[in-house]
Formats: sequence, structure tokens, C-alpha cells
Amino acid sequence: MHLYCYQQQHVASAATLIAPLKYLPAPHLISDLMTMAGFYRENDQLCVDGLRLDAIADQFGTPLYVYSAAAITANYHAMTAVFSGKNRRIHYAMKANSNLAVLRLMQNLGAGVDIVSMGEFARAIAAGFAPEQMVFSGVGKTPDELRAAISAKIGQINAESQAEIDTIIALAKASGEQPAVALRINPDIQAGGHAKISTGSSDTKFGIPGHLARDIYIHMAESGVIRPAGLAVHIGSQIMDCTGFIAAWQYMRQCADDLVNDGYSVPCLDLGGGIGVDYMTGQTADLLAFGDAVNQVFGQSDYHLAIEPGRSMVAEAGCLITQVINVKTNEDKRFVVVDGAMNDLIRPTLYEAHHRIEPLAVHPSHDLPADIVGPVCETGDYLGLGRDLPALAANDLLAVMSAGAYGAVMRSNYNTRPMAAEVMVIDGTAHRISKPQQVSDLLAMDIIPASLDTI
Ligand code: LLP
Repeated sequence: MHLYCYQQQHVASAATLIAPLKYLPAPHLISDLMTMAGFYRENDQLCVDGLRLDAIADQFGTPLYVYSAAAITANYHAMTAVFSGKNRRIHYAMKANSNLAVLRLMQNLGAGVDIVSMGEFARAIAAGFAPEQMVFSGVGKTPDELRAAISAKIGQINAESQAEIDTIIALAKASGEQPAVALRINPDIQAGGHAKISTGSSDTKFGIPGHLARDIYIHMAESGVIRPAGLAVHIGSQIMDCTGFIAAWQYMRQCADDLVNDGYSVPCLDLGGGIGVDYMTGQTADLLAFGDAVNQVFGQSDYHLAIEPGRSMVAEAGCLITQVINVKTNEDKRFVVVDGAMNDLIRPTLYEAHHRIEPLAVHPSHDLPADIVGPVCETGDYLGLGRDLPALAANDLLAVMSAGAYGAVMRSNYNTRPMAAEVMVIDGTAHRISKPQQVSDLLAMDIIPASLDTI
């Protein structure tokens, strides 16, 4: 199953058909365009923003995440070109890539941030965001997290249940604060690139069922201790077509209009994230269709609008460089064993995600299709299957493309493997943006109780 297939169910009733998101050629497909941001090939070498990736790998070792600050900047500007203005805010969904350097860049570009834990809150603060620039999303915020969010005066809490609203009311009364709270509605719309990242249908844990939203909103508004901030939806991730967005937003708008007509304040509508990227080609999203969809649903309204894009801001701006350990052939299958593994990039095995895999140096040769596999002791430990790649040998370097989103943030230490480090290219210079982990760092996390030795 290709991750980017949009599953069109429950949305047939969407009144208007809209063009699918279009995609623009990525810089690396245009080999002679040195000035464009991101990855491209020059003289058969894979490069990023004026630097050869093999030189970066030499300097920092592998496996290694490499991000282009210029490509992230270009993605953000592409979004602001279709979604900006006095009453429009972009909250970068930092779960996609929460390295402090990426956050600082987003902050400098003018974004707000969507957080889902107090860990993310701490990162956002460390990167320079003010609490007022944050939206706190998530289906399971603990009372401690909500207490901290309220006392920090976070810009908006997106609540997902009656129980959560009641907790917020109790905490607000105890603190004397008046938190701004929006309700996340579940519009019962199925969209998203994979069942594990589809969040808009009623059989998922997300949001408040549409038919309960009105009563809960009124309950919240009449509590006297919450500032009703509006409504929110987020129907899933890796969405390649605007139809589902439009259906969800129309649903939310209807709900908001009804509340406004009854005299309730619904200042802001949060349209969520979810815009997909084209993993097969590396083409970047032409967001015009997205902007058109927003205007189609909200053009004639006074609502303040917010969005929470994650993947579309960073995915194409990063790659994972990995080095070949050895190559072996079993029967008629070629296995290229590399030093990057499922603990470095879990998406291929977790979501059957396709990431393009490119040799850093291209040379004309043919060989069997290759499975690019890591050293972890699981058959599911692969970065790509059946790939058409040239002959490869130990020490050759490969780049796993479109890995800037949900790559490094989902790393683990499985098999006691130190996590891949990260580098960001800024103005033609590669900067380390995370420290290399040592095995000793991992061992230092564990504790052997002395009483074990008396058994
Ligand atoms: N807002 C909320 C409430 C979310 O839950 C998410 C993503 C976003 C915004 C950002 O969505 P985006 O623009 O990035 O699609 N690990 C998965 C993706 C999980 C997405 C979770 N929520 C993957 O690697 O595909």
C-alpha cells in the first residue's frame, strides 16, 4: 500500500470537488539549479545547499540526519503564501521534528507551535517560543500537564472530551486563571495516508463526537472560568487531496455558525494539520489547492483561522545518510546491509512508508533489486525493499530521502544502538544540532538495585 493514497470514504457528500494537492518539482530533480533550497544532484554527487553530502558524512559520521534550513524556510514561506494575514496563524506541529534548532528556525520565521506534551512545552520554551504562541493538543493531557499549561497561560488548549473540560474547569477555579480552550470535534471523516495516522473517523480515540460538541461547548462557555476559544479539527496526516479537509471544515463551520447564532463566542477555528508530501517523487506541495480550499469554506467569515502543519514543513528538508556495511545475495535477492536501521527511521516498517533511497555517488551499473536493511535482529528492520540501485559495496553511502518529518523524533535505542545524530545546513555550512550519543549514555540510564546481588 502506498502511504500517499488518499482513502476516500465518508466524504462523498462533500459538496464541492476540489483539485488534489499539486506537487512542484523538487530541487534535487533539477540538477543545475544550485540556488534552490534542499537536495539536488551535481556532477553525479548528491548535495544539499552547496555542500556534498559525502563530505558531511565524513565530517559527522553515519547514520546521520541532515536538514536544510533553507528548505524548511522555503516550505514555511510556501505556506504563508497561501495562508497568512491578520487573523490567520500557523502553529508548527513540532511532533514532526522537535530538534531545538528546527524550532528556533520556525520561531524566527514567525510561526507559533502546536505541542502535545509538557516535554514539547519545555522544548518550545527552550527554543524561544512564548506560551501564548502555543496550542496544546492531545487526547490524554494529564491533570499535572493541564495545571502547568493553565499557569503558564498557554495560548490555547484544544480539549478532546467532556472529562477533560471538567478537569480544566476544576483547575481553573483552583488557580483563578481563565484558560482559553477550544473543542476538538471528531467530524467522522476518514482521511489520511495510513490507518495508523487517520484520526477523523468516529472509531478513533480523537475529538468529541460532533453531536455532543454543541452541548459541551455551551457547558464550557457557561462555566464562567474558561474563555471559549473556538473549535478545532484534525482528521489525519499525509492527506493528498483537499476533499476530506473541506468536508471536515464545513462540518466545523456549521457547528460554529450554530453556536454563534445562539449568541456564543467562537473566535477561532483551528483547521488542523495533515497536508501530505509526495514521498515517491520528492516533489514539494504546491499549496494553492489547500489555500483555495480554505478560502472556499471560510472566505466569507469573520473567524480567526489557525493551522497546525508538521510534515509539510520539514519532511522534504531532511534525509538520513547511512553507510553500507556489506552486501550479500541470498538466492536471487540482494541485501544491502547498512548502518542505519529501524531504530533510526521506523516509518518504513511501521507504516509501510516508501522513502526514496539514493546513492550519494551515482555510477552507471546494474544489479539485482536490493532490500536496504539494517543490523537490527528483525526481518522488519528495513529502510526500503526491492529498490533499483546500482552495484553497491562496503563503505558506499546512501541517502534515505524525505526523512525530515517523523524521522529523528521517532528514533529509539533498540538493540542498544545510540541514536543517529543530526546536522543542519545553514547558509552553506553544516552545523551539528544534536550531540552524538555514546553507549555509556545509554548504560547510565539504568539502575541495578544492590539488593539484586543478595539474592
Ligand atoms: N495536529 C494534530 C492534532 C496532530 O495530531 C498532528 C499529527 C498534526 C497537527 C500534524 O500533522 P501533519 O501536518 O504532520 O500531518 N508518525 C506519523 C505521523 C503522525 C501524525 C500525528 N499527528 C508518520 O510518520 O507518518
